[in-house]
Amino acid sequence: QSVAIVSVPFGNGAGTSGAELGPAHILNNAGLPLKLNAMNITYQISKEIIVPSQLPPIQTTNAKYLAEVLELSGQLADRVSQLVAQGTFPLVLGGDHSISIGTVAGLAEHYANLGVIWFDAHSDLNTEETSPSGNIHGMSLGISLGRGIPLLTGLRGICPKIKPEHVAIIGARSLDPGEKAYIRSLGMACYTMHDIDRLGIARVMDKVIQHLRQVTDGVHVSFDIDSVDPKEAPGTGTPVKGGLSYREAHLALELLFQSDLVTSAEFVEVNPSLDKHNKTAKLAVELIGSLLGEQIL
Ligand code: ARG
Ligand code: MN
Ligand code: MN
Ligand code: MN
Repeated sequence: QSVAIVSVPFGNGAGTSGAELGPAHILNNAGLPLKLNAMNITYQISKEIIVPSQLPPIQTTNAKYLAEVLELSGQLADRVSQLVAQGTFPLVLGGDHSISIGTVAGLAEHYANLGVIWFDAHSDLNTEETSPSGNIHGMSLGISLGRGIPLLTGLRGICPKIKPEHVAIIGARSLDPGEKAYIRSLGMACYTMHDIDRLGIARVMDKVIQHLRQVTDGVHVSFDIDSVDPKEAPGTGTPVKGGLSYREAHLALELLFQSDLVTSAEFVEVNPSLDKHNKTAKLAVELIGSLLGEQIL
């Protein structure tokens, strides 16, 4: 199966600018094409998603750049839906995590029971009411679950796009009070760093894979690079210490490759402007390698 790479140079969903530089750094500077060539993976580079600018603002209570996020989400949903229809594996490069709203909207047209594995230090389950920042990248998983801004939850006429029992959050260590209450109320699978320390990442992944295999018809990996410890991933807008180690992150993705369940992925929140050595974009390329089947031996 051919991989279709979609660049989404969008950073307006984050509070710190620079995530819009992620795709170019992952592709050109950190050399994703070289990695895929070395792995003998067939891929195509899909046309970059054009980022909207100077749109008339939409009135909101606490959601910055809603007009831009809405426009971008529609474009990205179209593209991802087309790529799935063509039988390719969409690999979306962000950009901040608000882009997942569009990715998941496009996927939801093809998968009635889409599984989502959300690697993140955060849970991105805020609403305008609970968000401490008004940044939409902190609301994106909630929006796909049908929680929050109706213009976004209603995108493409499917709401919700995903069901809480088909989601697993992995790597969480910075949750806002409203997010904790929501996770608890739904009993959503949220493997915190505490859980990963206790169980080990392999057992966590086994549980997630075994569950999603039974209940989903496709699995999307939404990988926020801030799930990884800032020692390995310093170039990200909202770093939180105590994250996944280099090997924990790789092992998680290696196990997902072996599971043969994953049907799409996105790598987000790489912010090259906070990372002079491009370490974080290089990490993203290495992690993509593991997810797509790179073997140590
Ligand atoms: N919880 C915080 C907020 O809502 C931080 C969110 C960070 N999200 C991310 N995708 N990096 O503002
Ligand atoms: Mn995130
Ligand atoms: Mn995050
Ligand atoms: Mn650990």
